[in-house]
Amino acid sequence: MMKKMTITSIKKSKGIQPLVMITAYDALFAKLFESSSDMILVGDSLNMSFGGKNDTLSATLEQMIYHTNAVCLGAKDSFVICDMPFGTYCNKEEALKNSIKVFQETSADAIKIEGGEDKADVIKHLCSNGIAVCGHIGLLPQAVRSEGGYKVKGKSSEEELQLIKDAQAVEEAGAFCIVIEGVKADVAAVVSKSVKIPVIGIGAGKDVDGQVLVFSDMLGLFEEFTPKFVKKYLDGASLVKNAIKSYSDEVRLREFPQEIHTY
Ligand code: KIV
Repeated sequence: MMKKMTITSIKKSKGIQPLVMITAYDALFAKLFESSSDMILVGDSLNMSFGGKNDTLSATLEQMIYHTNAVCLGAKDSFVICDMPFGTYCNKEEALKNSIKVFQETSADAIKIEGGEDKADVIKHLCSNGIAVCGHIGLLPQAVRSEGGYKVKGKSSEEELQLIKDAQAVEEAGAFCIVIEGVKADVAAVVSKSVKIPVIGIGAGKDVDGQVLVFSDMLGLFEEFTPKFVKKYLDGASLVKNAIKSYSDEVRLREFPQEIHTY
């Protein structure tokens, strides 16, 4: 069993050991992931992989609280981060009210919000009121409609400069770590070196301080599309379909249940 990470141990790991973050949305999977991961993110990506929606925007605070509770119950020894859904942190007051709700109704250790320099005042307000914040810069899934799609960042020197400014503003505001998504690997490496807090990449190459993947992608359960940055560690969809097929064949042939499954 790994020791539960803390804000201090997460920060200290920079430059020593890459951090492993994975998403989970329920107690069952969270329990399975706990022994091998440093942090569990209850991502609003659940709106897509579990909710069947096209993007993350319609996830609600109530849903995130429900799923965060389930994850915390399943993985009692994990550092759990609750993703703040779209529209719940537009200004300092709303962000604090909603983050306090998450902290009071779940045992999440931290919250995550998307945005860089533009969200620095919100992050500072949260941190100065006892909320641990993980930043999220680069490709921001909650901006998919305003940006007209999912756009990889860091393709120009202006974008590179902005990413560095974003990371530094988020650090200065008090965040303990930053997720960097969909950024050219060489740029993500520079961004990671520009701050003292860990920068956890997703689609941002290997020269950052850790990695995060959406579990249903890396277990091959989500079949709609597979982003370039995802490695499938399991062909989960085929395994599940084969198992259900075997079950249904056996039921139809009256081969299940057998004597050992019968009272
Ligand atoms: O919602 C999510 O799962 C995330 C990851 C992509 C980092 O924010």
